[in-house]
Amino acid sequence: MSKDTFTIIDNRTGKQYEIPVEHSTIKARDLRQIKVNPDEFGTMTYDPGYDNTASCKSTITYIDGDKGILRYRGYPIEQLAEKSSFLEVAYLLIFGELPTKQQLADWEYQIMHHTFLHENMTQLFHAYRYDAHPMGMMISALAFMSTLHKEASLVEDADVRLKQIYRILGKLPTVAAFCYRHRIGRPFNYPNADMGYAENFLYMLDYMHQSRYSVNPVLAKALDVLFILHADHEQNASTSVMRSIGSAYADPYSAMAGAAAALFGPRHGGANEAVIKMLTEIGDAKRVPSYVERVKKGEFRLMGFGHRVYKNYDPRAKIIKKIAYDVFGVTGMNPLIDVAVELERHALEDDYFVSRKLYPNVDFYSGIIYQAMRFPPDMFTVLFTLGRAPGWLAQWVEMITDPEQKIARPRQIYLGADERDYVPLEQRG
Ligand code: CMC
Repeated sequence: MSKDTFTIIDNRTGKQYEIPVEHSTIKARDLRQIKVNPDEFGTMTYDPGYDNTASCKSTITYIDGDKGILRYRGYPIEQLAEKSSFLEVAYLLIFGELPTKQQLADWEYQIMHHTFLHENMTQLFHAYRYDAHPMGMMISALAFMSTLHKEASLVEDADVRLKQIYRILGKLPTVAAFCYRHRIGRPFNYPNADMGYAENFLYMLDYMHQSRYSVNPVLAKALDVLFILHADHEQNASTSVMRSIGSAYADPYSAMAGAAAALFGPRHGGANEAVIKMLTEIGDAKRVPSYVERVKKGEFRLMGFGHRVYKNYDPRAKIIKKIAYDVFGVTGMNPLIDVAVELERHALEDDYFVSRKLYPNVDFYSGIIYQAMRFPPDMFTVLFTLGRAPGWLAQWVEMITDPEQKIARPRQIYLGADERDYVPLEQRG
């Protein structure tokens, strides 16, 4: 008997099964043979939220949640945040290796030369109400893009895929900036391909035809690092949606619209916006203990705390906490930082949070930085979307090119009514 197997004994029948184990994983399909009667469907696994289910094999991102480790293609997040740039990290995620000088120059050129939007899309922004949530605009703008680039549906063609990657990474900051400018009733600024990625984005948000204008390099650098920290996080909710929609061979714009919709939720990328609401509501470090008591009573959750995978400090939160002070050096202090630091200190000394291994996550400090940079809270998840875009695209390419991948189609345990006859309306009580 091979050592790399599990022996399963079905106590209902006394039958014994040998199931192969690879990478500490068994194939759910191998359980199907376990059944009492031959006409039964067979054994399945039940795993709400895919808590313990690997949906794919991946070579992109490694996380050790207990040790607080995050690596993209093997490179520690700390090194990438310190030494790399967002576009270089995007290249690494999508192609698997760091680029050469020439490859990086070509990559940056291609992305920065796909930043302009079709004018039809520019008109789309005028259809939104003045107070439309920018994530709603972002999601629908992504779906709109699929109507403009029809060849994108040829998802099996590597050249077509690459073209859409240039377009998506190039155009997303323009979409995000136009969402913002529409919200504040200002004219759109068209992209400037001579600038860096984050620099051009800040320029499109801010520029008001001043004769002397430049983007603050500290803020551009901080944003670039924040994008790196958000660039991928393996099979989280939005990435799973990206893969799931992509597995039906929908075009990448439609898949990204779905991924962005998942990210919008407050338990996922919407948490950074929720953190600012929470810190503002607490208002003063003195009120932290009473707020934490209400969390412990189960009235609500501490936003920006806890993670499905990290059961130790989120390594991204550590880096972000440091960047916060670089940004405050330019923008002035954000008074909410005192509340956040006190909240973190208090929670990490409390058994409720310690025993459940609840630590600050990426969203805990990112909102404070974005607010200091004068982003309105409802733009925060849009910033997360810009950062996460290369991760979604890398995962999408990996899924499409993986011969083992199939259309996503989970099973269910049906517990509803057995067959029954339709009752006409007049006979119902
Ligand atoms: N505040 C208070 N209690 C919490 C929190 C929290 N933030 N998170 C989890 N718990 C408790 C939860 O009530 C449960 O307690 P009990 O065992 O007594 O019922 C226990 O911890 C386990 O919680 P869970 O819901 O089973 O954990 P999960 O892995 O399903 O949830 C999470 C992960 C991120 C959804 C959750 O921690 C949460 O809602 N956090 C707040 C929202 C947030 O900050 N989200 C951003 C996540 S990081 C970036 C991203 O993914 O986009």
